[in-house]
Amino acid sequence: MTPANVSDYRALSARRVPRFLFDYVDGGSYAETTLARNLADLENVVLDQRVMVDVSAIDTRVTLLGQALAMPVILAPVGLAGLHARRGEVQAWRAARAAGIAMALSTVSVCSLAEVTAGGGAAPWFQLYLVKDRGANAALIAAARDQGAPALVLTVDLPVPGARYRDVRSSLTGAPGLAGQLHRAAQVAARPRWALDVGLAGGPVAMGNLTQLVGARAPLSDYLGWIARNFDASADWDSLAWVRSLWPGPLIVKGILHPDDAALAFRHGADAVVVSNHGGRQLDGAVSAVRALPAILDRLGGAIPVLADGGVRSGLDVLRYRSLGASAVLIGRPWVWALGGRGEAGVADVLAMLRAELKAAMALTGRTRLA
Ligand code: GLV
Repeated sequence: MTPANVSDYRALSARRVPRFLFDYVDGGSYAETTLARNLADLENVVLDQRVMVDVSAIDTRVTLLGQALAMPVILAPVGLAGLHARRGEVQAWRAARAAGIAMALSTVSVCSLAEVTAGGGAAPWFQLYLVKDRGANAALIAAARDQGAPALVLTVDLPVPGARYRDVRSSLTGAPGLAGQLHRAAQVAARPRWALDVGLAGGPVAMGNLTQLVGARAPLSDYLGWIARNFDASADWDSLAWVRSLWPGPLIVKGILHPDDAALAFRHGADAVVVSNHGGRQLDGAVSAVRALPAILDRLGGAIPVLADGGVRSGLDVLRYRSLGASAVLIGRPWVWALGGRGEAGVADVLAMLRAELKAAMALTGRTRLA
């Protein structure tokens, strides 16, 4: 099959990566109500068709926090994404750079920021989770500064992980010991190509940014349990001010759904916020970004850029978010599916699709420039 869209890459990735990895990315929390809402609310954003406008030249470029982007799309931070293809985050960042867009490397990525930077010729953005060890947080921020990361994204909506039933069933979490290991091994054995290319030849399977904290092997047994034990549930707005004091560059706060929180993030030093429910992976029942956006934009009154994520599956969706006032969107699942399906070439293809679809959507709504 020649993939025609993002959901074709989803199907391809389901056939190529072990089940526990696919489900970790594909799934949401609890009944996955908010995950479904993200898609439905976005789909319901109606676009205005306009005709007989000269749309022979379309410009998708934007400037965000001083950075020029070929289109307002950013690869979202995704934990363990690097396991979807050999040294996966390096491949993804190469594709993102070639497409002229940004990527935020997750704290819990497989490849370290140094490895990704070396492989991509420049540093991506870095996403920070606050762990209980303040020294470790300071070291991560220092590493991002030393590597020249152009922005720091502080994720604030994961003081504890939401319950992810699929991850329990797949033994990605909650099944320490031999039974869990055997269950995961059986899922790896069902994907021999992946087992050879990524599992065997593509190591080390570590959390590259956290080897000081975790050791040289990623805690694949009880991954979310490890997160629950090590992330700092005591983080508050003063913690944001503390991060601000250590990070001179653009600071983006991700995981805002309430206008009061948006105002607090701004007051404590955020240069931008991402309206997000973490891809429906945290508080199930939470509002979609689409519905949360208007009140947040209203409260911030243009003081800082407002980004959004959740449910983007096409270039049309990018325009939908833009039409609601988002400066840019983050995509998570789409790039990881593409990476699992075809590696760097897959990510490049998905970005090309999104751009072509965005251009067509702009043409059909009679807009030649996003700016
Ligand atoms: C972590 O960021 C997750 O959503 O699993």
